[in-house]
Amino acid sequence: MELIDVKDLSKRFGGIIALSDATFSARAGEVHALLGENGAGKSTFIQILSGALRYDSGAIHVGGSEYRPQNPDAAQSLGIAAVFQELSLIPDLTVEENIWFRHEPLTWFGTTCRKRMRAATLELFDRYHFPAIRPDRELRHMTLAERQIVEIAKALAKNPRILILDEATSALPAIEADWLLKLSRQIAEEGRLSIFISHRMGEVRAVADRLTIFRNGSTVAVHEAKAVSDDQIVTEMIGRQLDRLYPVRTASRTERLALEVRGLSSGHRLRDATFALYEGEVLGVGGLQGHGQRELLQALFGAAPSKGDMKLWGKPVSPSSPRDALTGRDGIALVPEDRRGQGLLLPKSVSENLTLSVIRRFSRGGLLDKQQEAGLVREMVDFLRIKADTPDQPVGTLSGGNQQKVVFGKMLLTEARVLLLYDPTRGVDVGTKGEIFRLIRDLAAKGYAILFYSSDLPELVHVADRVLVLREGAIAATLSGDEITEEAILSAAVLDKAA
Ligand SMILES: Nc1ncnc2c1ncn2[C@@H]1O[C@H](COP(=O)(O)OP(=O)(O)OP(=O)(O)O)[C@@H](O)[C@H]1O
Ligand SMILES: [Mg+2]
Repeated sequence: MELIDVKDLSKRFGGIIALSDATFSARAGEVHALLGENGAGKSTFIQILSGALRYDSGAIHVGGSEYRPQNPDAAQSLGIAAVFQELSLIPDLTVEENIWFRHEPLTWFGTTCRKRMRAATLELFDRYHFPAIRPDRELRHMTLAERQIVEIAKALAKNPRILILDEATSALPAIEADWLLKLSRQIAEEGRLSIFISHRMGEVRAVADRLTIFRNGSTVAVHEAKAVSDDQIVTEMIGRQLDRLYPVRTASRTERLALEVRGLSSGHRLRDATFALYEGEVLGVGGLQGHGQRELLQALFGAAPSKGDMKLWGKPVSPSSPRDALTGRDGIALVPEDRRGQGLLLPKSVSENLTLSVIRRFSRGGLLDKQQEAGLVREMVDFLRIKADTPDQPVGTLSGGNQQKVVFGKMLLTEARVLLLYDPTRGVDVGTKGEIFRLIRDLAAKGYAILFYSSDLPELVHVADRVLVLREGAIAATLSGDEITEEAILSAAVLDKAA
């Protein structure tokens, strides 16, 4: 018996059709993957199921009865809990306060019973084998990955019959992502339903019993996972055959130093990093989450205070000055970790976001003419396949993956030749991922120097020339060529050299 059954679901935003007669059905006891390229309608669908959005037409049945979700509470009382693609936690509250927000265990006097809240939190962490997180930490001191884990705890605290994970692994490094896959299986084995959305095919393969594929807001296929090949899935997702995902890695490194870093420290997470990045090189950065990767990129960009020496194309740069000021070909550009916080102005249009950095470049030599600007935007939108109704659509209303593409496009338009990429393909669909990898290699071949952090190990293995593995804020190993394997990166990330 199907636990959830959706027929002909449609949803428009003004002139944009997000869902068009979509169907979906899934049963208790399975992990059901929902796949589709960026903008296919997955998150819209999930938001409707969880009562966060109204739909225009269609019918939803849960457990055999008709269900017309009017608000999140209605969804919750039916046992539906979702982890949304964009996080919803409150920065000033602690981990446990966020988890139990609006459901706090109370004392006789109606105030929060902190003792029971702590006990319930620890019990929850234990039951689902959570990675170590202190219940009394405030959210605003935590990394994106840690906050993602808290978001998962918050959904599980409702003890749902249907758990929906909308790209919940996309901000998680390997070990935590793997934990979440196990958790999804655990939910299914307990006779509940787990709906799983991810752009990482390996994860879908590892976890899903069945899968439903959306394209342009409609359902194009439903499969038993065992009975379908990756190629077929991808073809159905993007409506065309995909060339290979990873580009051929041709060495393009020269002997010219792009970036020379000595004894760089920042905060308490980055300690004494010394390394070089060469013209034409893609230097990967790996390691477990929270071991200094973010601090490294932020410090290099000048966005965080740091100590140490740094030379850019042979010239010393002061570690404290924002590298943002160094525009043009001698500058540094960053794809930041948090696209909604640092990367984008959400209410502004796609075109304004893309050209923000270009305007700075042009404003030195004169005005950027409108036609030229429109041309640049059109090129970038086509090249990265950014799915927007018009270039005037506010960036905040694009799908998650399309927002990420705008961040990437914005960085490209700076023309800086030292690029710092923090998980640049996070949430990007498999079709465009391939394009981005190819682009990274093409840029390297043109003499760009690229520092590339990815939380997805296969990306590092297939795209980087060398990989720095960070452990506890220090460079624990530098791997190159054939040494770069998933096992080698992981073992350098966790093992002590002495061991
Ligand atoms: N508030 C909104 N206003 C206008 N358009 C919207 C709004 N929310 C979503 N859309 C549009 O609906 C379409 C579907 O978006 P949705 O977020 O459901 O895609 P998705 O499949 O989750 O993609 P991704 O893999 O990138 O997360 C997109 O074209 C998006 O621009
Ligand atoms: Mg989405």
